[in-house]
Amino acid sequence: MNTRSFEEKRIEAGRRLGISPEAIPRHVAVIMDGNGRWATERGLPRFQGHEQGAKIVESLATHCVNCGIEYLTLYSFSMQNWKRPKEEVDFLMYLYASYLEGIRPSLMEKNVQFAHVGRREPLPQDVLDALDETVRITSVNTGMTLGFALNYGSRTEIVDAVRALAQEAKDGQIDPQAIDEQVIGDHLYTAGWHDPDLVVRTSGEMRISNFLLWQISYAEFYVTDVYWPDFTLEELDKSLLAYASRQRRFGDTKPKTPTQG
Ligand code: IPE
Ligand code: IPE
Ligand code: MG
Repeated sequence: MNTRSFEEKRIEAGRRLGISPEAIPRHVAVIMDGNGRWATERGLPRFQGHEQGAKIVESLATHCVNCGIEYLTLYSFSMQNWKRPKEEVDFLMYLYASYLEGIRPSLMEKNVQFAHVGRREPLPQDVLDALDETVRITSVNTGMTLGFALNYGSRTEIVDAVRALAQEAKDGQIDPQAIDEQVIGDHLYTAGWHDPDLVVRTSGEMRISNFLLWQISYAEFYVTDVYWPDFTLEELDKSLLAYASRQRRFGDTKPKTPTQG
């Protein structure tokens, strides 16, 4: 079991990278893009890109654990991805269900708490069972939170939050005037989490594709041309170094250290 504190890990990772521990992001959110192109460029079917993409997740998540990152959110399947050909969607659903089962021992060993970020409907029952069981067995853990954004759409997440708040107001449980940014954040799937400090997107697209729109208001972006299956630990370190070199200001005139909110 991995029980060193986040702070101790950040100090060690900061030393390794030659940056201060405060320059390590608390929450990294990743748009894992480019599996299809990775495969197509090799003359392989797209599903092999997805398979390869899934294989690298574990070592990257472990690297984040070792860096003292508190939240890692991985964009795995958007609500818009249902538009893809049925064979590709079916393969991805099969991949998620078997993948989640496979990573449980590693999540336990690394003390990682697993969370589903997204809507349940219309995920197939075997995927829901795999998500629920992974959440259940890792709920005793106290280390990094791994958010798995599966069947996730940011606008839908906001719709769900607004509906819940409207219902609470109708039922007299909340005064509409009491609704502020904190209350809205508390009704999102990521309630209680530190907002992402760093958003990484692989494969070069300069867009957000409906990912965590509310939560990334002041996140730093890092886009690399590398396709997701080729995203190594060295590439992850490059994104951390880029983040450490940024000056965050949050609207102020004075720069703050990267993790000061
Ligand atoms: C990301 O890779 C994985 C999912 C969206 C499920 P893509 O499948 O989008 O790969 P490209 O963008 O077509 O190369
Ligand atoms: C975003 O990638 C979603 C995931 C990585 C899961 P997409 O490939 O779906 O995004 P677009 O279609 O290029 O915007
Ligand atoms: Mg894509």
